[in-house]
This record gives sequence, structure tokens and C-alpha cells, in this order.
Amino acid sequence: MEQSYIELYKSAQKTCEACKIKPEEKVVIYTDTMKSTALIDAFFTAAVACGAEVLIVKAEGRPPMVEPPKAAVEAMAQADMIFDLATESWLFTDATQKIIKTGTRMLQVLVTEKAVRDRPPIAAVKDRVEKGYQIFDGCQEIRITSDLGTDLTVRRGGRKVVPQAGCVHTPGDWDSLGLAMVNFSPPETEAEGTVVFNGSLYLIPDHKLLVSTPIHAEVNKGRVTNIRADHTEAKLLDDWFRAWNDPNSYVIAHVGFGVDPRADIYSYDIGAWESLDGGIIVAFGSNYWVESGGQNKSLSHMDAVLFNANLQVDGKLIIDRGKFVVPELTHCNK
Ligand SMILES: [Fe+2]
Repeated sequence: MEQSYIELYKSAQKTCEACKIKPEEKVVIYTDTMKSTALIDAFFTAAVACGAEVLIVKAEGRPPMVEPPKAAVEAMAQADMIFDLATESWLFTDATQKIIKTGTRMLQVLVTEKAVRDRPPIAAVKDRVEKGYQIFDGCQEIRITSDLGTDLTVRRGGRKVVPQAGCVHTPGDWDSLGLAMVNFSPPETEAEGTVVFNGSLYLIPDHKLLVSTPIHAEVNKGRVTNIRADHTEAKLLDDWFRAWNDPNSYVIAHVGFGVDPRADIYSYDIGAWESLDGGIIVAFGSNYWVESGGQNKSLSHMDAVLFNANLQVDGKLIIDRGKFVVPELTHCNK
């Protein structure tokens, strides 16, 4: 048996355990033709080993934010637990809303196989996610700044804070394996200031990059209104936004921070970037998701992580140049 399969299986076992899969449960593994057999088998075998009734539903690969085939959605809506092993995300679609409203819990497995092996859900990181949740819960306003010139103020509004620890164990939960972060979706008009992108950019579906030259963008009333397209990467970002030809692409989607000390920025793994301990997340585009209360519909979504930036929550400094400075989250500083 290949070593990679064994490692994937061990990680799938830990994931099933964290998702509290019980013998009487129905589990659907939804996947497509672009996902590796080893990964599918690892989750299938691990879920079967829990005693669950497990079904694999496999479709052709689809573009991002396009729903699975109707029959697959029906099968998923009847399950207790879904491992979503689709190659591209379909989170912000009506199909997701329909499925999780039935009480089905769903774990997306979108990260690389290396990330599946390296960052299964663990209690220590889940604890950090919960502490991060407390920081945002009930706050009024956050301010993100950096030495490079970022100065963005975002109002919290009344939507829920979404903690993600890479596992799901209560009915209707949605999460993504390998993620350890806390976010909220502000009201669509409530972000103002300047963002200087200096870290990772994930521009669905094709662009995943670590920025080498900072990119300046202005945000007014919750929308990106200007990107200073003065170098190649800045032009790429500007062109990417324009290509969608959709005003909703420019709308603030979520803001937050990562809490996983295992996350490695150089792995080119989008999950690691957003989960980076002390990385600050700023995202634009679709956020239509019952869990977050987001209302913005678009085919586009971009996730940026600012490195070495500062986060203040209601005036209190939480992250200073990429390092947590509050006692409940400092102990994992590297
Ligand atoms: Fe995002």
C-alpha cells in the first residue's frame, strides 16, 4: 500500500472522529473526475470504519460556484454528513443552502492532499478558533493597518461570526478541512479605507499567488473602487476584477484572521494561507451563505491574506505585525 494513501487514511480517520460520525449515520462522499482515487478511498474507508452507511456520488468536474447535478444534490440532502470532495467550490450556491437547511452537515475537502495529511482537525487548533471567535463576537468595529499603508475600518453589523476549525459535528454545520480561522461578513457598505495587499491572493479559479510587490486598493462604502495597477501583479488583480464584469465582485465578502500555527505560507495551499496564525483575511465577492448571513451573490470570490499587518478590535490591539498580542492566543507565536 502506498505511503500517501496510509497518511491520507489516518487523516481521514481523525476527520471522521472530529466530525463525530456515528454507526447509524448516512454519509455521502461527493466527488468528481478530477479528484484522486486515493483521497476518495481514504474518506470512504474511514467513514465505513465508523460503521456508517457510505455512498460515493461522482460527477464530471464543474467550474467554481456551479451547483452539482440535481440527482447529486438530492442524494446529499438525504444524508446526515457529506464529505464534499469536488475539485472546485460550490459553497455560495442555492444547492448548499438547500442541503444544509435539511440539517445535513457538510465538510468541504478543497485543500491539497498535502494539507489533508498535514492539518487534520485537532483539539488545540479548535480551541484557538473558539478563542478567536470570542474576540469578534459582540464587537462593533475592527481596524486593519500595516506599515505599508493599509488602513481599513470595517463595521461588524449584526451577522454571525463564523468560526472554522476544519470539522463539522452539529446538524447544518458547514466547514472546510484544513481551515482554522474566524471571519464575519460585514454589511455590504460598511468597509472604508485602503488595503495594501502584500501576502497571498486566491482569485478563483486559477490564480494563487504570493504577492512580491504590494498592491494598493481603495475601498469606499464596502466596494473596491480603485486598484493602483502600476505593476504586473497589480494589473493581474485589476484585470481579474474587471473580467467578471459584475459590480458585486467588488463588494466586501468577509474579514477575519487565521489561528493555525501548522499553516505554512510557502505550500501554495489556499487553506494554509487563510489559516496562517496571525494572518489577516480580507475577501471580496460572493458571500451568499446562510451560516454567515452574507447576501452578496456573484460568480467571483477572492481571498487575500495580509502578512505582518495589525488588527484592532474596538480599539484593542489583537495582532501586531502578524503576531497575536492577546494572552489567550499568544502561546503559539513562532
Ligand atoms: Fe473567502
